Amino acid sequence: MLIIKRADCHSERQEGRRHVTADGSVPQNAQKKERLMSDSNVKEEIIRELSVAYWMELETVMNYISSSVNLDGVRAEEIKKSLAADVTAELVHAQTIAKRIKTIGGTVPGTFDFKAVQTSLQPPAKNTDVVAVIKGVIEAEDAAVAQYNKLIKLCDGVDYVTQDLCIQALGDEEEHCREFRGFLAEYESA
Ligand SMILES: [Fe+2]
Ligand SMILES: [Fe+2]
Repeated sequence: MLIIKRADCHSERQEGRRHVTADGSVPQNAQKKERLMSDSNVKEEIIRELSVAYWMELETVMNYISSSVNLDGVRAEEIKKSLAADVTAELVHAQTIAKRIKTIGGTVPGTFDFKAVQTSLQPPAKNTDVVAVIKGVIEAEDAAVAQYNKLIKLCDGVDYVTQDLCIQALGDEEEHCREFRGFLAEYESA
């Protein structure tokens, strides 16, 4: 038996970075090592995707501030109030994400890494164009929903704390989205 075991050991060969025995199976130690390596790759990916979410939140904060101030008219009042309140919620999301990036070994990026992408939340040609702002908000919220869903899947089985944080934020974004879809239905039918 001992001789056979030695023969197995000597017959281990390296395929790329994988250890494979003569019968084609991967030894337990190598499996564990591969899993650890792939976990650390996933961790890096999580930090990258958290940074994307962080910038999304901060760009949303900037655009919600401007829209909550720029809009004119009686019809804009409720939208302005709602956006002003959402600024606080989105800022809390950004701060929570920043803390998590640091906790899991990343660095919260500085503004040189920031690239603006929210085309549909730029100030409309007319300050009374409430519908354009509502549509821009829905687009931003949909993007946030997609980003948190991506993170939730990425974290599965690797980082449950980040996953939980993203589930909380996803719930908030879905609520924002539902609220503004309601506004859109009302404003478009008026
Ligand atoms: Fe948010
Ligand atoms: Fe939101």
